[in-house]
Amino acid sequence: MDKPTVVLGVSGGIAAYKACELLRRLTESDHDVHVVPTASALHFVGEATWAALSGRPVTTRVWESVHEVPHVRIGREADLVVVAPATADLLAKAAHGLADDLLTNTLLTARCPVVFAPAMHTEMWEHPATRENVATLRARGAVVIEPAVGRLTGADTGKGRLPDPGEIFATCRRALARGAAGMAPDLTGRHVVVSAGGTREPLDPVRFLGNRSSGRQGYALAATAAARGARVTLVAANTALPDPAGVTVITAGTARELREAVRTAAKDADAVVMAAAVADFRPAHYATGKIKKRDGQEPGPVALVRNPDILAELSAERARPGQVVVGFAAETDDVLAAGRAKLARKGCDLLVVNEVGEQRTFGSPDNEAVVLGADGSETHVPHGPKEALADTVWDLVVRTLPGAGV
Ligand code: CTP
Repeated sequence: MDKPTVVLGVSGGIAAYKACELLRRLTESDHDVHVVPTASALHFVGEATWAALSGRPVTTRVWESVHEVPHVRIGREADLVVVAPATADLLAKAAHGLADDLLTNTLLTARCPVVFAPAMHTEMWEHPATRENVATLRARGAVVIEPAVGRLTGADTGKGRLPDPGEIFATCRRALARGAAGMAPDLTGRHVVVSAGGTREPLDPVRFLGNRSSGRQGYALAATAAARGARVTLVAANTALPDPAGVTVITAGTARELREAVRTAAKDADAVVMAAAVADFRPAHYATGKIKKRDGQEPGPVALVRNPDILAELSAERARPGQVVVGFAAETDDVLAAGRAKLARKGCDLLVVNEVGEQRTFGSPDNEAVVLGADGSETHVPHGPKEALADTVWDLVVRTLPGAGV
């Protein structure tokens, strides 16, 4: 199969250097990348860098290789166009259909999914002109990722940082997998809650009982829901991943903290997805001082008590009528039968069942699963990025929400 062709447009902002990381990720994962920097972008990162990292010549002007009509060809041949960083000026030109350089021409001729990753100062991002341009682009089906919050060029901080290159990359993979038609903002106006990571149950101030969940699947669920227009609350337990842009992140350590945070956020939620690996048990006693070893003495057993089953509670006492509740099941044996039994036991609407083992699922960017529905449905999701599984979950949630299909 041919490699997907990606056009990486780079407009003139200091964050252009971070687009090098995105470019590397794209080329290393078998994409054919054509870099189209604007004239101002070349002030920040030179042509040689783009050419070396993409392994192909860089086209910067409509007046190069005119006989090949590059201003039309590049856009037409693309499977995806991603602009990172997208400056306020570039967003304005794209929204108004201006075409005064190769990148803006490419945006007009492309018929594939288009992703913009904005980076600018907070005032520029919040200006009504930029807000309207972003709304126009989104209404036309383009994906405009929310900028991240943090340190900007100079001493100021605020919203406007280029989203993390890993996140832009994940959005690109998702856009390539779903195509232009599949990028509709079908969760607009919805509030969704996602839990992610793994809880830790302390034994003493330095030790805990934990699990190997990285939180990646939950983060992918949060990021894809935000891309589909939802207001997203992510309750994260012991993760080490960058906050997905445009998502409210609440941290929790133990199962009981996670329960509190999820239940509070779920009060006005349309859907709750429990992707976190919640400890079923916690030590019955917490030692306020570090437990010491003693010479010639074997350690005593650790007594455990049950934690509340948050998923079962959420399913039994829906905070709103029609709220959709989704659970995850990590199984090692007789996966489907165990999943069906768990779905019934927990009382949720959907259960994502995946097979786990030493080398599978935990910490990996890919996943493979079956989503079981309380209505008896069974959706197989082939091995692929966690964003693809996340999108399938949201497809099924959208279908289950009250009013769907009416
Ligand atoms: N879960 C939860 N609260 C718990 C334990 C699990 O909300 N105390 C949720 C998880 O977030 C996940 C689902 O329940 O969505 C499945 O968790 P799992 O541990 O696989 O299921 P268990 O009920 O613990 O079943 P078993 O231990 O028999 O596998």
